[in-house]
Amino acid sequence: MQDLDFTGKIVLVTGGGAGIGRAIVEAFATRGARLVVAEINAERCADLREALEASATDALVSNTDVCDRAAVDALMAEVQARFGGLDVLVNNVGDFLGLIKPFAACTDEDLERLYAVNLKHIFTVTRAAIPLLQSRGRGGSIISISSIEAFRGIPMVTTYCAFKHAITGFTRSLALELGPDGIRVNAIAPETTETEQVRPSELIAPEHQAHTRRWIPLERFGTPQDAAGCALFLASELSAWVTGTTINLDGGALAAAGWYRDPNDLWTNVPVVSGNGFNI
Ligand SMILES: NC(=O)c1ccc[n+]([C@@H]2O[C@H](COP(=O)([O-])OP(=O)(O)OC[C@H]3O[C@@H](n4cnc5c(N)ncnc54)[C@H](O)[C@@H]3O)[C@@H](O)[C@H]2O)c1
Repeated sequence: MQDLDFTGKIVLVTGGGAGIGRAIVEAFATRGARLVVAEINAERCADLREALEASATDALVSNTDVCDRAAVDALMAEVQARFGGLDVLVNNVGDFLGLIKPFAACTDEDLERLYAVNLKHIFTVTRAAIPLLQSRGRGGSIISISSIEAFRGIPMVTTYCAFKHAITGFTRSLALELGPDGIRVNAIAPETTETEQVRPSELIAPEHQAHTRRWIPLERFGTPQDAAGCALFLASELSAWVTGTTINLDGGALAAAGWYRDPNDLWTNVPVVSGNGFNI
């Protein structure tokens, strides 16, 4: 099969300096796109700029905080002036901010910080980007990086989980609004993926690593490149009739729900003490 070609397309990725965002930037750059990156971390900006220059990619890597409304508006004006619009927006920024605690103990400040970095910028960045997408005519694509936690609960990380659920509703509703403009709106919902923010390779004790294959049907955690593959699909003509939906990027974890494989490799959905957990 011929690989995808984004020559001439203008793609904006938020948080493109690391993890999933960086892999998405690289995937589009490799396929000819012109890139705009809004990244809060100056060092990551410098590193990415160097890499994109080395691959002769036409790119604007901006040290921008997407939670800063004025900075986002200024970036959009710069993009319009330099590139004449946008074809693809990837809302990738999101962070649980290391806040793992009972909901009842969350302060107002916790709630506001989580809202700012997980949902509010998706509203403000998308709103600012819509005229730029419209200015390029039909064929635009808006992609938000959600989480598999948009479709199940996660104790002690309740607020992050709620904002990820909200992305599903935003995606569905905006898809209806922008359908007549030929702009598609979708999301990607990753399960645990090895990035700067989440490091299963370090967080999980070595003796437990081997068990990963027992609870994820495709037997591994995600890579940033897995997410990039979905973003390429959702930005391309291959998904021309796909809008308002979310791809579960999870190796089958959500399909498994409470099912996993016992030490004998048999599927079970009950607690295993010995055997396969069933009283038979
Ligand atoms: N890694 C996972 O296991 C996982 C699972 C589910 C969902 N997600 C989602 O995927 C997305 C990317 O996650 P990741 O693990 O690659 O994160 P990451 O922290 O590794 O990378 C995020 C990048 O965004 C940048 N960034 C953070 N705040 C910013 C801001 N305000 N403005 C501009 N840039 C900012 C960071 O500097 C970093 O370079 C997030 O929305 C996250 O919630 C990740």
